[in-house]
Amino acid sequence: MKLIHCLLLLLCVGLSFCKTLSLIQQDLLDEKCLKEKYTHQSCEKVFCQPWERCVEGSCICKLPYQCPKAVMSVCSTTGKTYNNYCQLKSHECLSQKTKFLTNGTCHSQGQFDLSLKFGDTESEGLVEVQLGNTTAFICKKNWSITEANVACLYRGFKGGAVDYKKTFNFPDDVDVKITDCLEANCRGLETTLAECGLTKRKANSKDLAGVVCHAQETDLLNDGSFPCVNGKYIPLEQTCDGINDCGDQSDELCCKGCRSGGFHCKSGVCIPKEYQCNGEMDCIKGDDEVNCEGLGHSEVQDSEVQGTRNFEHAGQEQAEILSANMDEDRKLLKSLLPQISCGVRNNTHVTHVRRKRIVGGQIATEGDFPWQVTIKEGEKIHCGGVYIGGCWILTAAHCVRKNVAHRYLVWTGVLDWIRFNPGIAVQRVNRVIIHENYSGSTYQNDIALIELQKHPNKATCELAPTTPACVSWSQYLFNPGDKCFVSGLGRNKGPRNLFRLRWGEVKLIGNCSKYYSNRFFEKEMICAGTDDGSIDACKGDSGGPLVCMNSNNVSYVWGIVSWGENCGNPEFPGVYTKVSNYFDWISFHVGRRLISQYNV
Ligand SMILES: *[C@@H]1O[C@H](CO)[C@@H](O)[C@H](O)[C@H]1NC(C)=O
Ligand SMILES: *[C@@H]1O[C@H](CO)[C@@H](O)[C@H](O)[C@H]1NC(C)=O
Ligand SMILES: *[C@@H]1O[C@H](CO)[C@@H](O)[C@H](O)[C@H]1NC(C)=O
Ligand SMILES: *[C@@H]1O[C@H](CO)[C@@H](O)[C@H](O)[C@H]1NC(C)=O
Ligand SMILES: *[C@@H]1O[C@H](CO)[C@@H](O)[C@H](O)[C@H]1NC(C)=O
Ligand SMILES: *[C@@H]1O[C@H](CO)[C@@H](O)[C@H](O)[C@H]1NC(C)=O
Ligand SMILES: *[C@@H]1O[C@H](CO)[C@@H](O)[C@H](O)[C@H]1NC(C)=O
Repeated sequence: MKLIHCLLLLLCVGLSFCKTLSLIQQDLLDEKCLKEKYTHQSCEKVFCQPWERCVEGSCICKLPYQCPKAVMSVCSTTGKTYNNYCQLKSHECLSQKTKFLTNGTCHSQGQFDLSLKFGDTESEGLVEVQLGNTTAFICKKNWSITEANVACLYRGFKGGAVDYKKTFNFPDDVDVKITDCLEANCRGLETTLAECGLTKRKANSKDLAGVVCHAQETDLLNDGSFPCVNGKYIPLEQTCDGINDCGDQSDELCCKGCRSGGFHCKSGVCIPKEYQCNGEMDCIKGDDEVNCEGLGHSEVQDSEVQGTRNFEHAGQEQAEILSANMDEDRKLLKSLLPQISCGVRNNTHVTHVRRKRIVGGQIATEGDFPWQVTIKEGEKIHCGGVYIGGCWILTAAHCVRKNVAHRYLVWTGVLDWIRFNPGIAVQRVNRVIIHENYSGSTYQNDIALIELQKHPNKATCELAPTTPACVSWSQYLFNPGDKCFVSGLGRNKGPRNLFRLRWGEVKLIGNCSKYYSNRFFEKEMICAGTDDGSIDACKGDSGGPLVCMNSNNVSYVWGIVSWGENCGNPEFPGVYTKVSNYFDWISFHVGRRLISQYNV
């Protein structure tokens, strides 16, 4: 394959299509990820819009009552006033019969239309917009593929735009005097230019924006093009640059790196550089909003914008806002959605103190692993587990049996079985749910839930100060090489250390098939260990947690201690149940709201 490319390059030096070929940085695209056909509606890769929620990996329409109740009136194209932008977008999402018109309550004369004028076909032309009693062309200023996609989508072209730079001339027999145009600034996923904000500016006929929409599958796949999920093809060099050229974002979601202009989220997504440090989390791991001091985009931009603004005031007194840009409202509504508290430690010294590494890890102090629990059957320490909120404990299937639920006791807050610390609590178990496809022979689906008994006369389990660990909804939150923590009570070498809560730092290992051929199932299991094998899961409890922290130091249970061989040997890393693969299974049993931090 590589050889053929080289030959092609040599053969066609000087020919124009070779230019494209040499620009191809195919290494940027992750082929395996592309097979999943991710789009802007794949919650594995992106956050859903405030008017959507995530169900089985896809952002689907929310019902209007699931939106925040805040009253920030907006007017729709059907003439109806909605309480806020989220509620209107939810109606649009469900019925497709209404669209955003303006901010504020509806007045008469409310209407919006967008048409393409003076093109050779119906799928191209100058962009003319009618809003209320104003009809005007769109300005070339700030017109990019982002706005062009929105305009084409509005006209019903599902693939969005293929060109936004083409110029169109007025026919000779048309006598129009252009005095102003409407400037739009989109984020890219709006469904009408009215949402992008429309500002009237002085203009002449040279200042107008044109567009060519993606009409049908006329463009063919060749070495220099990328197939968008929506059926459009774009030049390969427009992938992984932070710009949503496809219109469905599919060119930005499977990237091993980004071209200039893009910021690379650790989850393999390229976002526009301007989104870094803009106060809104765009990468699912939060890595676009950390280490913002100094390179804070918002600060730098503020001074730049100030300069521009002054200039604009001098030159363009006439600018008149016809429709507000709804991005601020979108952000505000997003911040009003319910949030759960999980994964935040009361003390953070675990990550600060670097003591000498002891075989089998280090001894934990109070608050280090507040989600750690111990399951006892009678007098014996049975297994570890992890508190995930409500009355629910997550553990390994091989740890528990369904029909002896009444015999289990769940201990929280234990640091030492010899000398009890304050804050220990004991809970009875109501029921045990074992994954229906758990296999005791292959250890596949080694995952189980324990529901604790509620306190008499109370609706809750009152596990405080035990803090739940978060549950990851996406398999892209952590990657091979990331440092994580495994913790557990007992099963250590030597009697003295037997009964204390210990933890160790381990690294996620990619594709463990090379260590455990035929027994490692990549979709369901993960591996972690240290280069020298000094810290290993088998020294913690089975069923206990492997937690990893996102960029904001929020802890997620990423694995459940499942199996491994030859403890402490780097050739045999510990194997864990991949919790993110079971997000839907867990939420089916415990309720989506309990564990959904986002997209709820
Ligand atoms: C829309 O109008 C509301 C008042 O109803 C205001 O608070 C909000 O800032 C406006 N949004 C925009 C984007 O102008
Ligand atoms: C156009 O609408 C605006 C308010 O949207 C109104 O103030 C103005 O009088 C209208 N002009 C005409 C000619 O109807
Ligand atoms: C127009 O685009 C420039 C550069 O992308 C940006 O800085 C500016 O804020 C945009 N104008 C408006 C009104 O948003
Ligand atoms: C268990 O396996 C069957 C057969 O492969 C599958 O249809 C079913 O969805 C699985 N159950 C769960 C909870 O994954
Ligand atoms: C955090 O720790 C302090 C003292 O160590 C304690 O008073 C407080 O209740 C703890 N908070 C939580 C949420 O555990
Ligand atoms: C994992 O390793 C196995 C065997 O070494 C290989 O067949 C498989 O393609 C690898 N998967 C990935 C994603 O690298
Ligand atoms: C996360 O923890 C590390 C180590 O304690 C610290 O250096 C970093 O500033 C923390 N990051 C955030 C976003 O709190």
